[in-house]
Amino acid sequence: MVGGGVPYGLVEDGAIALKDGQIKWVGVRSDTPPAYDTFQATCLDGMLVTPALIDCHTHIVHGGSRATEFQARLEGISYSDIALDGGGILSTVRATREASEAELLAAALVWVDGLLSEGVCLIEIKSGYGLTIEDELKMLRVARSLEMHRPVKIRTTWLAAHALPPEYQGKPDAYIDDIVIPGLKQAAAEGLVHAVDGFCENIGFSAAQIQRVFEAASDLGVPVKLHTEQLSNQRGAALAARFSALSADHLEYLDPNDAPALAAGGTVAVLLPGAFYFLQETKKPPIEALRNAGVTMAVASDCNPGSSPLGSLLLACNMACLFFGLTPEEALTGATRAASQALGVGDDFGTIEAGKRAELAVWNVGDPADLVYRIASPRLARRITPLGTQST
Ligand code: NIG
Ligand code: FE
Repeated sequence: MVGGGVPYGLVEDGAIALKDGQIKWVGVRSDTPPAYDTFQATCLDGMLVTPALIDCHTHIVHGGSRATEFQARLEGISYSDIALDGGGILSTVRATREASEAELLAAALVWVDGLLSEGVCLIEIKSGYGLTIEDELKMLRVARSLEMHRPVKIRTTWLAAHALPPEYQGKPDAYIDDIVIPGLKQAAAEGLVHAVDGFCENIGFSAAQIQRVFEAASDLGVPVKLHTEQLSNQRGAALAARFSALSADHLEYLDPNDAPALAAGGTVAVLLPGAFYFLQETKKPPIEALRNAGVTMAVASDCNPGSSPLGSLLLACNMACLFFGLTPEEALTGATRAASQALGVGDDFGTIEAGKRAELAVWNVGDPADLVYRIASPRLARRITPLGTQST
C-alpha cells in the first residue's frame, strides 16, 4: 500500500526494497530495478502490507484506574461533575504522583503491548497526570523509557496544562507561571519534549491561558497541539490554528466556520471516537465541514483511564467510521499518514515511500477495508521495523 490516485494507494503484486532500516524502493514487483535483485527476498503472497500504524494521541503513562468513576457515571453522574468534585483527572493525578517509575512503566507496557499486537510502531504519550514539575518529568521519562523495553518509537508531549492541581485551586494563572512554563523549559532542556499540549475547556484552561503556554512553546521552538472543543466551544481550534499547531484534538464542539482556519494553519484534526463513545457524547465533530475545508483528519485511541480506556487503534478507526462517518480509507489514512503529520514526523513515518523508515505491518487480509470493519479480530501477521521483523 503506497500513495497514489487509486483507493488506499494500493499496489497489486507489489514489492518493497528495504535496506539499512529504510525503504529504498516500492512499486509493482515486475518493475523492480535490477539493483535490488541481490536483496534477500521475502515472499508475502496474498498478504497486505501497510505502513505500520501510528497512535498519535494517548495518555498511556498513568497510575491507578477509574473503574469506580465509571460506575458513578453509569449511575448518572456526569464526567464534568466528577471532575468539578475533585475526581476525574485529579484522581489519576493522585495515583500517578504516588506511583514509582517502575510501576508506571509496568502498567504502560500492558497498553503498549496491545497496540504493538495490532501493527502500531509509533505512539505519542502525554504527561498531564503529575501537575508538579517533578511528576510531569517522571511521566515523560517513563514514556521515553518504553523504547528501551519494546520495539516502538515514542513521541512525548508536555501536557501540564491538563487540570488545575489542588494546591493551585482558584489560581490557574499562577499554576501556569509557576509550573507549566518553567517545567516546560526544564523538560525541553532535558530533551523530553516533542510537543506541547493543553486542555482548553470549561473544566480545563481558557484560550487566553493556553495562549500563554503556546507563546512559551514558540519561544522554545517546540510545536503545539491542543485538546479542544471536546465538551464545549472555547474557540481553542482557532487559537491552535493561529499557532500553526500540529493538531487540534477532539473537536466535537468545533464551529464549522473554524474548519478553514485549521486547513490554513496546516493543523490536523485528530478525531477521538473512543472518548465520544465512552462519555456517551451525542454531538459529533463537523466532519463534512472539515472535509470541505481540506483539513487532514487523523484518528487516535486517546487511551486514558478517564474518558477513553481504549487499547485498540483499529477499534478507534472502526468507531470513526460508524460514529463520525469517515470512510474506511479515511480512517486508515487517519492512523497512518495523517497521524504522522499530527506528530510532525511525516518525513519518516506514515506511508510506504522511498527514504522513509522501514516501519511496515503485514496483515492476513486481502482488502485494506478489512482492517477497519472487523472488531477485535487479530489480523497482524508480522511487523517489520528498522531493527528487523517481529512475528506475532
Ligand atoms: O483526552 N480531555 C482531557 N484529557 C483526556 C481525558 C483525561 C481523563 O479523563 O483522565 C482526554 O479525553
Ligand atoms: Fe486526550
